[in-house]
Amino acid sequence: MDILLVGAGGREHAIAWKMMQSPLAGKLYWAPGNPGIPQAIPVSAKTPEELAKFAQSHGIGLTMVGPEAMLCEGIVDLFRERGLRIVGPDRRAAQLEGSKAFAKDFMARHGLPTGKARIFTNRQEALQYLEETGAPIVVKADGLAAGKGVVVATDLNAAREAVESCFEGAFGAAGSRVLLEECLTGEEASILALCDGKTIVPLASSQDHKRAYDGDKGPNTGGMGAYSPAPVVTPALMEEIQSRILQPFLKGVQEDGLYFRGIIYAGIMVTAEGPKLLEFNVRFGDPETQAVLARLDSDLVEALVATADGRLGEVTLTWSPHPAVCVVMASQGYPGAYPKGLPIQGIAQAEEAGCLVFHAGTRRDEQGRLVTHGGRVLGVTARAATVRQAVEKAYQGVSLISWEGAEYRRDIAYRALQRES
Ligand code: AMP
Ligand code: GLY
Repeated sequence: MDILLVGAGGREHAIAWKMMQSPLAGKLYWAPGNPGIPQAIPVSAKTPEELAKFAQSHGIGLTMVGPEAMLCEGIVDLFRERGLRIVGPDRRAAQLEGSKAFAKDFMARHGLPTGKARIFTNRQEALQYLEETGAPIVVKADGLAAGKGVVVATDLNAAREAVESCFEGAFGAAGSRVLLEECLTGEEASILALCDGKTIVPLASSQDHKRAYDGDKGPNTGGMGAYSPAPVVTPALMEEIQSRILQPFLKGVQEDGLYFRGIIYAGIMVTAEGPKLLEFNVRFGDPETQAVLARLDSDLVEALVATADGRLGEVTLTWSPHPAVCVVMASQGYPGAYPKGLPIQGIAQAEEAGCLVFHAGTRRDEQGRLVTHGGRVLGVTARAATVRQAVEKAYQGVSLISWEGAEYRRDIAYRALQRES
């Protein structure tokens, strides 16, 4: 079966890498793709309409979309109208990620545990509410803001500033509605699951590091590293997540008549009162996917086809017991401004040392050299018998790779290491 994959980052490279191992996979078309998989055929189609035309004219058997934006635009609706197989929620269901207000409302109606929150469309009312609640408090722009629309405000001034900047348009239309949410404390974990509207199948647990600097300090980023499993998710906690979050999610999807044949990502805070939802995403996480798929033993293509066809009940996923760790190497200055076009050395050596090197922001320049082309450039991933060994192997790979000004965190998986020792 020929496959069309949409996206250009490390998550998509990991999905592509795993798909290529499937005996079901024929040609892999990748729009726009990145240099990570030379066998993949780059596709220039960009819009949902162009992609649908491409899928039709090339007899694509399965389309998989990495990033959220197109799901929120309704690419699944369009493909379904044309009778094309695609993994993902339709436009309405994608609001679980696209609108935090929609997601909160869904959680409240279906009894999923989450922080208390109020939604405001009026600046004065939001500021007034802040005076009543005080800090810490979390300020969230309602719509998609490329991971930048959330401020965990530790004092009232920071909270006021965040509210003002939302209403002043710092996140465009995404900030015209603002959520003020109770600040939860605990350890975070990411639970991804396949869901076809009838069955929900969790993937291995994971945890990412959102902050730029060691010790979880500094600005939020798309994710500086990840590991799987997340040791905070004990078997008992996983059961609780299943019964209090995943099953109620499925029931909510059914009761609301949402079309959801895709990936649901539950961002969870493990609080003293149990797991609570921070957010939903309707796609694979980045960089969690790099660590999670590095541990998947079963066939990803088979699982995704079953998800799209509503036959997920027939699928059992099997996992390597060995933990995996992904260390993101980023451009100097990320998540702020950063240079591009710097030649990268050492990927082959890191691969020889046993690492999987997923490309996130790379490109081939006119001379055919591999150069940096994004904020997050590579995700150096390793699997080993223990977390410590996986961490050592991943950082061994990182030490073999270089470009001018490359930055990375030195403490990926520190919580897992603490638990292991
Ligand atoms: P989100 O995009 O909703 O996942 O938020 C990004 C990050 O902000 C999360 O990974 C958390 O670290 C933090 N965050 C979001 N909501 C809360 C909350 N209610 N309490 C504490 N931290 C939060
Ligand atoms: N790693 C967080 C996300 O994919 O949203």
